[in-house]
Amino acid sequence: MKITTRPITLTINGKKQGPLDIAEGMMMIDFLNEYVNLTGSRLGCGQGVCHACVVIEDQPDGSSHETRTCITGAHYFDGKAIRTVEGHATINDKGEEVPSPVQQAFMDHYSFQCGYCTPGFVNAATVFIEGLKRNPIARDELEEAILKAMNNHICRCTGYVRYYEAVRDLVLKTPGLIRETKNG
Ligand code: FES
Ligand code: FES
Repeated sequence: MKITTRPITLTINGKKQGPLDIAEGMMMIDFLNEYVNLTGSRLGCGQGVCHACVVIEDQPDGSSHETRTCITGAHYFDGKAIRTVEGHATINDKGEEVPSPVQQAFMDHYSFQCGYCTPGFVNAATVFIEGLKRNPIARDELEEAILKAMNNHICRCTGYVRYYEAVRDLVLKTPGLIRETKNG
């Protein structure tokens, strides 16, 4: 059997990757794990259900959303910009890695146990917080909004409560994410 290949070029965590010649039909999770050595995105169910495998897809208009890489072909991302869990931490002037606010909140709240689901939750919470920066919500809409943002992600260890508490805590202590009233 002859495998047909096609080049792919994209931006991952601010860095251009490619052109790389890869098999047509290859799923993005395999491309990330096997071709660019980004193993933080996790293959869970492989069927689009658990959301452990999501990456953040950045749009030209500044918005972002999650995309499941176990059911999305790598070539769908050709020419696009994405972020994976490896792209969240920053390096300080001492050369030390500093977790993102979401990552720090999850650690402060002991949100995860085995951590297999955590990259997906980090990406979900990051997309949620970035969305609130663009469109703040009222305080009484927050609980439902957190549930909606995180609800697709499956965790088999923790019961979700500490993930949710971490996100709530981060939203409430980050200026500008909550409006005083429903109408602004
Ligand atoms: S591994 Fe992709 S949704 Fe479960
Ligand atoms: S911490 Fe183990 S699956 Fe979520």
